[in-house]
Amino acid sequence: MYAHKALALAILVGSAVAKQCTNMTVPVDISARNGVFDIAIPQTNLDATTFTQNVTRQGQNFSDVALSGYATTSGTYNISAQFCVPSASNVTNPTVQVLTHGVGFDKTYWDISYNNFNYSYVDVTTDTYKYCTLSYDRLGIGNSSHGEPLNEIQAFLEVAALAELTTMLRNGTFPGINQTFSKVTHVGHSFGSAQTYALVSLYPTISDGIVLTGFSTNSSFSGYFFAGGAFVQANLNQPFRFGNASTSTIETVLDMYSLTDLVAGAGISAGLDYPNGYLTNTDATNNQYQFFFPGYFDPMLLLYSEVTKQPVTVGELLTQGGLAMANAYAGPVLVITGSNDLPFCGGDCLATGNASLPSIPAAVAMNFPNVPSNNFEAYIQPNTGHGINLHYNATGAYDVINNFLNAKV
Ligand SMILES: *[C@@H]1O[C@H](CO)[C@@H](O)[C@H](O)[C@H]1NC(C)=O
Ligand SMILES: *[C@@H]1O[C@H](CO)[C@@H](O)[C@H](O)[C@H]1NC(C)=O
Ligand SMILES: *[C@@H]1O[C@H](CO)[C@@H](O)[C@H](O)[C@H]1NC(C)=O
Ligand SMILES: *[C@@H]1O[C@H](CO)[C@@H](O)[C@H](O)[C@H]1NC(C)=O
Ligand SMILES: *[C@@H]1O[C@H](CO)[C@@H](O)[C@H](O)[C@H]1NC(C)=O
Ligand SMILES: *[C@@H]1O[C@H](CO)[C@@H](O)[C@H](O)[C@H]1NC(C)=O
Ligand SMILES: *[C@@H]1O[C@H](CO)[C@@H](O)[C@H](O)[C@H]1NC(C)=O
Ligand SMILES: *[C@@H]1O[C@H](CO)[C@@H](O)[C@H](O)[C@H]1NC(C)=O
Ligand SMILES: *[C@@H]1O[C@H](CO)[C@@H](O)[C@H](O)[C@H]1NC(C)=O
Ligand SMILES: *[C@@H]1O[C@H](CO)[C@@H](O)[C@H](O)[C@H]1NC(C)=O
Ligand SMILES: *[C@@H]1O[C@H](CO)[C@@H](O)[C@H](O)[C@H]1NC(C)=O
Ligand SMILES: *[C@@H]1O[C@H](CO)[C@@H](O)[C@H](O)[C@H]1NC(C)=O
Repeated sequence: MYAHKALALAILVGSAVAKQCTNMTVPVDISARNGVFDIAIPQTNLDATTFTQNVTRQGQNFSDVALSGYATTSGTYNISAQFCVPSASNVTNPTVQVLTHGVGFDKTYWDISYNNFNYSYVDVTTDTYKYCTLSYDRLGIGNSSHGEPLNEIQAFLEVAALAELTTMLRNGTFPGINQTFSKVTHVGHSFGSAQTYALVSLYPTISDGIVLTGFSTNSSFSGYFFAGGAFVQANLNQPFRFGNASTSTIETVLDMYSLTDLVAGAGISAGLDYPNGYLTNTDATNNQYQFFFPGYFDPMLLLYSEVTKQPVTVGELLTQGGLAMANAYAGPVLVITGSNDLPFCGGDCLATGNASLPSIPAAVAMNFPNVPSNNFEAYIQPNTGHGINLHYNATGAYDVINNFLNAKV
């Protein structure tokens, strides 16, 4: 089946090798204990700023201040996913990597179309390392179901969706994937890493290996990320894309700014129609501050990221801290973070002020008491900010990740 598609694609684009991917919409039936927050959903850009002032005020934990209790949230939601296999593989029992994106992105973070997919994690992982991949839009974001942004779309409900996708891959019930996987690994970025961390904390045998990119357990610098994002209402910031404009309007706007070619293949679409309470950073200057290390990225890729960015819900922002619970997971763990990561290292992962701690991410080892030291690695990717995949040497990091999984799983 895959060989046939490979031939068709080779004829179409005249390229020798290319991964084979299927887009799918997968219903998941999930339930989680969500926080109930007793604040009004921000309705204006000034309300969004008030929210940021609340969250970044020193000496208080605003999640705790706003929390009035917990309630079970259940539902059937759609998850938009992309499943990819190598263009050619002689591996008889392949492993699938489940890729969870962070705040500000969707599943295309793992398969960036810019420069002919030169920054694509999925390309390297499928065609060079012969893994299958499943990337997906986190619940609430992009082409997955949206929801109420304060008390519904929260971290633990999203982790429940990740667990469900994983179970279906293992037991062969994933719609549209005609295969069972005896090995499933998980790779996250940022908030997606925090969710991956929580996944194996809740279900210690669900993953054969985890990779936490753009991550540490030090929360001292998350305020930089909040404040530096200058968060505003998504539907006011990019009304043509995050509001309810039509596809033809989006095409007109992209054309008007000569952006059509830049974002071709990025899956930009109409009708995302996010309600108030879905926030986004203001512009490319905030995007640079949050995700990029100056001098080591292509400015056109910053522009690409700005045009293709995705929002975050206030409920996600209030519940991300709660994911950092004790962890009984015992499988292989790689933490890989850019040397100059902002939210998890304050711009310098090596400045620990502690001669016995080589880097801030190295401290993650303490959260995994059951992982033997030869199965834990903290790697600092040089000359790189928080958005590892957006830097010139992204593929250097992809090799580190895949070599780790290849050696340990
Ligand atoms: C900010 O915090 C105050 C005090 O807790 C609260 O009354 C208000 O609703 C909060 N507003 C937002 C937008 O977070
Ligand atoms: C999921 O998507 C299908 C179409 O692909 C649609 O019919 C259905 O209503 C959606 N379900 C939810 C919960 O959004
Ligand atoms: C797959 O092909 C590579 C390269 O030809 C070879 O080294 C490897 O042993 C093969 N693996 C299997 C499982 O046949
Ligand atoms: C992709 O990267 C390779 C190696 O860095 C480079 O030689 C090539 O020109 C790049 N291709 C594009 C389309 O940017
Ligand atoms: C496979 O997993 C799904 C999702 O958890 C579950 O509903 C289903 O019962 C499982 N099927 C089998 C055969 O284990
Ligand atoms: C699923 O895989 C089996 C065994 O490889 C094959 O016989 C069957 O035709 C496949 N079904 C589909 C729908 O591709
Ligand atoms: C689009 O959103 C605006 C502002 O919320 C609303 O007034 C309008 O009715 C919406 N249009 C459609 C077609 O949903
Ligand atoms: C989202 O859905 C639209 C409409 O089906 C599609 O054109 C677009 O490629 C999708 N984008 C992503 C990132 O999945
Ligand atoms: C699959 O989704 C991607 C965006 O994620 C889009 O670029 C591509 O065109 C879609 N492929 C198909 C066959 O719809
Ligand atoms: C802040 O409060 C929330 C809700 O009570 C809690 O889950 C979280 O662990 C707290 N964060 C810190 C750093 O104490
Ligand atoms: C976070 O890192 C900074 C800088 O290395 C350090 O001063 C601080 O003590 C760390 N915080 C925690 C909770 O480890
Ligand atoms: C690129 O990344 C790899 C993997 O971390 C590293 O070994 C190499 O030194 C990096 N190259 C540059 C020029 O920084």
